[in-house]
Amino acid sequence: MAAVIPDLKTQWLKDGFAVEILDLDLPTASEEELLAFDELCRRYAVVVVRGQNLSPKQVVDVSSRLGRVSPQNYTGPHPDFPGISILSNKMVDGKLIGVRDAGRNWHTDGTTYQTLGLRTMLYGVECPPEGSDTLLADAAAAFDALPEERQAELEKLSIVHNRAHLIQKYSRSVLSPEEMAEMQDVIHPIVVKSDVDGRKSFFITNGSTKRVEGMEEEESWALVNELMEHCTQPQFVYAHKWRAGDCLIWNDVGTLHRATPYDEEKYIRLVYRTWMRPFAAAAVTSDVEAALQHH
Ligand SMILES: [Fe+2]
Repeated sequence: MAAVIPDLKTQWLKDGFAVEILDLDLPTASEEELLAFDELCRRYAVVVVRGQNLSPKQVVDVSSRLGRVSPQNYTGPHPDFPGISILSNKMVDGKLIGVRDAGRNWHTDGTTYQTLGLRTMLYGVECPPEGSDTLLADAAAAFDALPEERQAELEKLSIVHNRAHLIQKYSRSVLSPEEMAEMQDVIHPIVVKSDVDGRKSFFITNGSTKRVEGMEEEESWALVNELMEHCTQPQFVYAHKWRAGDCLIWNDVGTLHRATPYDEEKYIRLVYRTWMRPFAAAAVTSDVEAALQHH
């Protein structure tokens, strides 16, 4: 017999886009409550659970419910839990313990995977009282806001994404030129459909964009940048103001995201990040490949 999934108490942080789950303590939650948590994470682009007290192992356990946790070997891996990437300005023995600044410009992760539906979870361990917000833009509301004719035109277009392009753009050099040359193009429509409710949203980023199919490079980037500006207008954006103990989870289908700066001289930020690929996705062939899907 199917389990009865209880309703968890929720409130909108941004209507139809970001939802907060109230009165849930992830480490002590019942299996039924956790199933309800999974369902909310599947259904909504952005989910927040505040007031948690999670060990690194518990961060991995919660993440593992939502997808296959990717290794983070090149992006500030936690020494004991390689599925966790440490985002921090903290220094120990004169060395940064993780990645100092990640994703300060608007972008979407996971665009060079064939299978869509990558999820990200950030867990705040130490959070500055000001700055270091995580901004998330509602790419479905942004699509809905366009006139039907424009929507129809855009739905016909696809973007050629390429990992080597992304690496070059961010001057990463962990791969040889031969390895980079082998990186295959991955093509995704500019407008993708949610596999949960069929809602359409933009799936765009400029880092991995080689070109829009059938367009020259310059025209392609102009279009992608125009659409990114459209998506990231204030009316479409949820700004997450961090408190220690916050869990922020989002799906890369339906969102764009970025981090805002903070006073790194004055404050310490320590955030654990995990990336979860859909369970159905093909296994990643190497750790290097996994690390380079993102920026
Ligand atoms: Fe990102």
